[in-house]
Amino acid sequence: MVDETLAKSFLNVGEEYDRYRPGFPVAAADAIISAAVEAALDLGAGTGKFTERLVSRASRVIAVEPSEQMLAVLRSKLPAVESHVGTAEGIPVADASVDVVTVAQAFHWFDRAPACAEIRRVLVPGGTLGLLWNHSDARCTWDRACHRVAHPAVSETDETTSSAADELPGFTFVAHTEVAWSERITRADYIARWLTVSSFLAASDDECARMVAEVERILDADPDTAGRDEFDLPQITDVYVYRAS
Ligand SMILES: C[S@@+](CC[C@H](N)C(=O)[O-])C[C@H]1O[C@@H](n2cnc3c(N)ncnc32)[C@H](O)[C@@H]1O
Repeated sequence: MVDETLAKSFLNVGEEYDRYRPGFPVAAADAIISAAVEAALDLGAGTGKFTERLVSRASRVIAVEPSEQMLAVLRSKLPAVESHVGTAEGIPVADASVDVVTVAQAFHWFDRAPACAEIRRVLVPGGTLGLLWNHSDARCTWDRACHRVAHPAVSETDETTSSAADELPGFTFVAHTEVAWSERITRADYIARWLTVSSFLAASDDECARMVAEVERILDADPDTAGRDEFDLPQITDVYVYRAS
C-alpha cells in the first residue's frame, strides 16, 4: 500500500532535490537501452536525474512527473525533453507511442496495477520497461545505519526501498543488473541529502531534527567518517528490465 503523505512529500522540493540527490551511472542506462530507440519516456522523472541518461539514447525523450517544482528544474536543465505534468496511473501520452519506459527511484510510489496497465498502454508491443533504484551498499556500515534512521521499518535483509517483483501484470521479467559505483561527497551535502528523503520531508520539525542529530552521531562515531569533511560513498544501482508481453 502506497503511503500518500510520503508519496506527496516531493511536491514542494525541486532545487534541493536536484542539488543533493545522487545521479545514475551510465551502465545503468546501458542495461535498459543497448541500442538507440525512437522514443523513451521517463515516468516519475523528478528533476531529470535519470532522464538525462536517455537523451543520447532516444530521438524523442518524454518526462512525466506530478510535481510542477520538480518539472521546472527538469525543464531548465533539459529544454529539449518533452515534459508533462502527470502520474503513472494516468500517463498523458498516446497509446503505443514509446519504445521504452523508465522509472527511477519512483515505482514504489505507484499504484501498481493501474500504473502497469498505463505503462503497457503507452509502450509499443514488445516494448521495454526499466525500473531503477539506488541504494546503500551493505558493506558501508555508516550509510546503512543512516538508512535505518530514515527507514526504520525496512528490514536488515531488504535495506533498499525498492519494491520490484519478478512478476508485473502485462510484463515478462528479462533481467536484473546490479551496478556498483561510488561518489565523493561532503559531510554537509550528505546530511542535506537526507533532508530530501521522503521520511525527513514528511516529519515534524522536532522529529526531523532528531533524525538529523542521529545521522550526525553516526558520522561522528564511524572511523570512516569521524572528523572528515568529505568521504567516499559507495552506491548500488539495481536495474530491473521487463518486456511488454
Ligand atoms: C524519489 S523521486 C525520483 C525522481 C527521479 N526519477 C530521480 O530518480 O531522481 C520520486 C518521484 O516520483 C514522483 N511520484 C510520486 N508518485 C507518483 C505517481 N503516482 N506517478 C508518477 N510519479 C510519481 C514524485 O513526484 C517524485 O518526483
